[in-house]
Amino acid sequence: MRIDVLHGPNLNLLGTREPEIYGHTTLADIERALVDLARGLSTPDRPIDVTCFQSNHEGALIDRIQAGAAGNIDAFIFNPGGYTHTSVALRDAVIAAALPVVEVHLSNVYARESFRHRSLIADVVRGRIIGLGAQGYLLALRALIGADGS
Ligand code: DQA
Repeated sequence: MRIDVLHGPNLNLLGTREPEIYGHTTLADIERALVDLARGLSTPDRPIDVTCFQSNHEGALIDRIQAGAAGNIDAFIFNPGGYTHTSVALRDAVIAAALPVVEVHLSNVYARESFRHRSLIADVVRGRIIGLGAQGYLLALRALIGADGS
């Protein structure tokens, strides 16, 4: 099973960006934890391969989704960052991919400004994990592979 983890704009700055909101965990920390968990949950008959991609560019994220869907990706974990609240084009890409997507946000967007309360992909994703920090990505991975958490 191949899962691509997509991070949108400014998430490359995790660790130093508004640490009071996003914490001190870096994107590299998150990616390492995801790869470790995937390795731990892999079995010989069901290897789990996690790849990660971050871009500050909407089109690059769309290209990645299209390439994954046309290639060998089975599911996505997606934190679109600020594009969550604005991007019809990313919504269209998620729909066109027709693959399971779990939307993740580090912060509790509902406890923040009202413009963050709307997600343009909320109704086209498999599920959403919000406000649990970096752990949200790991929970999303477990959900996508059907792991029971043990
Ligand atoms: C975010 C929330 C967004 O509103 C914000 O623009 C981000 C990060 C989160 O993970 O909490 O860049 O997606």
